[in-house]
Amino acid sequence: MRVKKVYAIYFSPTGTTEKTAIAVAEGTGIKFEKIDLTTCGARREYKHTFMKNELAIVGLPVYGGRLPKHIDDFFSGLHGSGSPAIALVVYGNRDYEDALIELKVRLEEHVFNVIAGAAFIGEHTFSKKIAGGRPDLKELDIAREFGRQAIKIVAQASSGTLYVKGDYPYIKQGFNPTGPMGPLTTFTNIVTTEDCTQCGLCAGECPWGAIDSDDYATIDYTKCMRCFRCIRICPSAAKKNISKEFDEALPFFEKMVSARKEPELFLAE
Ligand SMILES: Cc1cc2nc3c(=O)[nH]c(=O)nc-3n(C[C@H](O)[C@H](O)[C@H](O)COP(=O)(O)O)c2cc1C
Repeated sequence: MRVKKVYAIYFSPTGTTEKTAIAVAEGTGIKFEKIDLTTCGARREYKHTFMKNELAIVGLPVYGGRLPKHIDDFFSGLHGSGSPAIALVVYGNRDYEDALIELKVRLEEHVFNVIAGAAFIGEHTFSKKIAGGRPDLKELDIAREFGRQAIKIVAQASSGTLYVKGDYPYIKQGFNPTGPMGPLTTFTNIVTTEDCTQCGLCAGECPWGAIDSDDYATIDYTKCMRCFRCIRICPSAAKKNISKEFDEALPFFEKMVSARKEPELFLAE
């Protein structure tokens, strides 16, 4: 089957998933549209029924070895009709455990035919020392080549079974305080300094709607997922993670996940 249009659909608080999904889309060689569903507003508004000749490249970061919690609304606007899809997860060089298989299953529930899957590595949200600058140029080339291969599979029309790494039932989602990420997520403490100009960008761009729109310094920690988007995007660098415990635990974590991981690609046979 000939693909008429490609969509790069992603949730990407700090931009690494976005970069990777776009490289895969470029590799297809077909005109593509970017659909950024990082904010709650974008997810609320987006609805599309994909035709059989439209390819969806769907990218999400890995949080705690799974897809991020609280983003059911990411999927609620995506409706396939047996449409081809590529499942893509990006993780911070620790592990992606069951995130890729979870994404595959979720896309199948939304009537997509997942013909390829991949796990790429992106700079870790918590430290530039973990996979700093990744995905790098070589990996973006791998992502493009993966897009080229995936289009060939769709062209063959009779795609076979797709195997991806991961277990079902999934590992328990969330942040186990005794697990590798646990201490870091419990220790995060995002503060707003006096450099804040009240521009409100952080509240508008928070993927979880966790920042009070009347008082940008107030964060609802029952919603905040510690994605650090507010810290990264603040034009006055007024949001900071200030935590002695976090700073003390980080070097141990950096050491633990320092061995370089490489992208893993899965194509339907
Ligand atoms: C709350 C949280 C949990 C994370 N859990 C994992 C994990 O389990 N394994 C891993 O390798 N990276 C983990 N990461 C790192 C991200 O997956 C990684 O930095 C990714 O590139 C972020 O994607 P983005 O730039 O599109 O937001 C986590 C990051 C956050 C904020």
